[in-house]
Amino acid sequence: MKVSIIESRCQGHARCAHFAPEIFIINDEGYASVNPEFATVPVELREKARKACGNCPEKAIELRE
Ligand code: F3S
Repeated sequence: MKVSIIESRCQGHARCAHFAPEIFIINDEGYASVNPEFATVPVELREKARKACGNCPEKAIELRE
């Protein structure tokens, strides 16, 4: 599974970092990026990645299996 942020959609709701703090980093401006260490999501974090994706109000998180 790969995860990425569609930057043009991110509005800084930070729900991604709430559900998967290992994967998502909120920058100084309040927008999300993916921790490069987890851009390929390890098995144990996949459920968290799905939750983050499902809870982003802007649909700014892209998951590819
Ligand atoms: Fe951005 Fe969605 Fe996270 S708007 S900060 S990717 S919850």
